[in-house]
Amino acid sequence: MQKLEGKICVVTGGAGSLGSAAARLFIEQGASVTLVDRDRVALRHIVSTLPVDRAEMFVADVSQSADVEACIRHSLARFGSIDVLFCNAGNFGTVEPIATYPDDVFEAVMAVHVRGAYLFAKHASPHMKAGSSIVITSSVAAMRGDAGVYAYITAKHAQVGLMRCLAKELAPRGVRVNTIHPGPIDNGFQLAVEKGLGAAIGRDGTAFFNELIPLGRHGSAEEVARSVLYLACDDSSFVTGTTLMVDGGMSV
Ligand SMILES: NC(=O)c1ccc[n+]([C@@H]2O[C@H](COP(=O)([O-])OP(=O)(O)OC[C@H]3O[C@@H](n4cnc5c(N)ncnc54)[C@H](O)[C@@H]3O)[C@@H](O)[C@H]2O)c1
Repeated sequence: MQKLEGKICVVTGGAGSLGSAAARLFIEQGASVTLVDRDRVALRHIVSTLPVDRAEMFVADVSQSADVEACIRHSLARFGSIDVLFCNAGNFGTVEPIATYPDDVFEAVMAVHVRGAYLFAKHASPHMKAGSSIVITSSVAAMRGDAGVYAYITAKHAQVGLMRCLAKELAPRGVRVNTIHPGPIDNGFQLAVEKGLGAAIGRDGTAFFNELIPLGRHGSAEEVARSVLYLACDDSSFVTGTTLMVDGGMSV
């Protein structure tokens, strides 16, 4: 028996590394998926590698209410229900001292991670039945502070607050809500962070992170996807309101 047999999923950031890996695994496990992203070209490419009858694409800016409403309407029209919502789109912003941190960057990062997850939960949850699951991609960054990482770390903490409120409100309806917290992953998003950090600290940014991770390496998108699958499917049927670390022990 596949773990998401006949289930309908919406995955934001679906053109990216973690979103596309999760969408692929969900489909392998029997689901149909609407992949959402603002990057039309990358999204079209990813969807072209997935079975045409089980993958739908929708171009949207997750921070825009009208886009999110339209996306949910579109997915419902195509597949008829929503059983799994994976709020995963993300951007990083910049690393700067507080006195000079750019306000527009702070707002842009909060808009994607926090308002984006809030809007998707707002518009999708009324359509989700008992047994459904919402997963929000936070980060190991939600468990720590680092000088200069104001937008990203604040946004990743805020997603936990959002998740906890949703978990309480939706529990009586049998809808579960959790956050997943990847540590550094071997992909382009993290590499960009490490290049910036490496230049700032004058040493290799990837090696710097590996020393912080007890397992001594970065994770893969597929390892994160398997943990998202756990939260998405009935294997985690008594799990709600939790923060699942997938970080090689970095937060310990
Ligand atoms: N890569 C890591 O090491 C790591 C670690 C912890 C958490 N995360 C989180 O995982 C999530 C996915 O990141 P990833 O590593 O796959 O990076 P990625 O850059 O490959 O994917 C992010 C996707 O989000 C999309 N996106 C950004 N802003 C958007 C918007 N306004 N509307 C719609 N789509 C938008 C991008 O186009 C991109 O396709 C993010 O929330 C990120 O913060 C990543």
